[in-house]
Amino acid sequence: MAKVLLAVTGGIAAYKAIDLGGSLRKRGEEVRVIMTKAATRFATPLTFSAVSAATVYTDAFETENGIILHTTLSKWADILVVAPLTANTAAKLSDGIADNLLTMTALAFEGPKLAVPSMNVRMYENPVTVNNLLKLQRNGWNILEPSYGHLADGEYGKGRYPENDNILFEIDRITGPNDFKDVNVLVTAGPTQEPIDPVRYLTNRSSGKMGYEMAKAAKVRNANVYLISGPVDLKTPYGVERKDVKSSEEMKEAVLEKMEWADVVIMAAAVADYKPVFISEQKIKKNSDELNLHMAKTSDILMEISKVRRPRQFVIGFAAETQNALENAKHKLKSKGLDMIISNDVMRTDIGFDSEYNEVTVLCKNGDAVRLSRNKKCSIAKNILDIVKTHRVKLP
Ligand code: PMT
Repeated sequence: MAKVLLAVTGGIAAYKAIDLGGSLRKRGEEVRVIMTKAATRFATPLTFSAVSAATVYTDAFETENGIILHTTLSKWADILVVAPLTANTAAKLSDGIADNLLTMTALAFEGPKLAVPSMNVRMYENPVTVNNLLKLQRNGWNILEPSYGHLADGEYGKGRYPENDNILFEIDRITGPNDFKDVNVLVTAGPTQEPIDPVRYLTNRSSGKMGYEMAKAAKVRNANVYLISGPVDLKTPYGVERKDVKSSEEMKEAVLEKMEWADVVIMAAAVADYKPVFISEQKIKKNSDELNLHMAKTSDILMEISKVRRPRQFVIGFAAETQNALENAKHKLKSKGLDMIISNDVMRTDIGFDSEYNEVTVLCKNGDAVRLSRNKKCSIAKNILDIVKTHRVKLP
């Protein structure tokens, strides 16, 4: 867990950083907070201290056990996060002005730095601010751009404090292993819908959570991630490009279109195996007691991939099993020409479909098998990528 030095400047969004401190604390991160004098007008040090379980520093001339604060804090932290960053502090930081505890500490800090500018749109778009932020970037700062939306003063534009989840994601990305940098990762997630008539379709119970966590885990490690998603009710992970599809045919087309680009393919989607042969143009009427649907096999996307894949592309399937899980998964690993398959038991209600948790066995082409015991899907995704990393380098 990282030691996070959260620096808060005096913008209206200062109150939103309280929740950021709380989230960092919940994740088990050690937090210390610096507030500028102006920030204390928008939110109190006591609130930050209570919510983040952090010591809050406001005065450059305070000492802690006789030690000067800015040098101590700058050596203590793994990452410095300035959220929100006002135009005023951006100007000072870009020019190396050190006139308060925050700016002094930032100047002395040698680790990774993240700034979250947040201000009125006209201040943000002012060339002076634009130049100051560019200068910070050139000096090694990571800048998380503000969002568009309604601003505190009733105006609309770019300048809104972004979602804290995106800031947490950036902290993970910046402090993370960076070991998928420049790797193109194609992920599929969620169910497909196979239409019967204009109002009905066949689908399955996939929520998309496992696939979305795979996409997020790869993005955190600095991969370029393209997510092909069936219909789900999930937010696109920060920084991930997403294409929405509905049917297995649409998913197949979307995957094949991206195959040339992909270095790693992760097929977590639950693709329908059968689809109605005829799609009725009109809603099917309730005229008889029984209705027989004539079904045909869908194309197997992984099989199609195996025909076009190029050397050193690493292809991973998931196996949703209800019985003989390992045996069936091993068969799919071989028959679909995969480098790896992740077997999960979808009979259990405490893992698998729609759960926040999963428990899987990772089976590799060379016969290696790794059991990942029940854990949150985000942790399972991270562990799967660790295994992918070691097996990918062994590709001929
Ligand atoms: O989405 P969640 O609610 O988080 O649940 C996660 C999950 C259980 C859906 C996921 O972990 C999972 O197991 N995904 C694969 C589901 C599946 O379709 O399994 P399968 O055993 O039927 O297929 C094996 C592999 O072939 C899969 O990688 C699948 O994407 C692929 N396939 C299947 C059918 C088809 N026509 N083309 C394919 O490429």
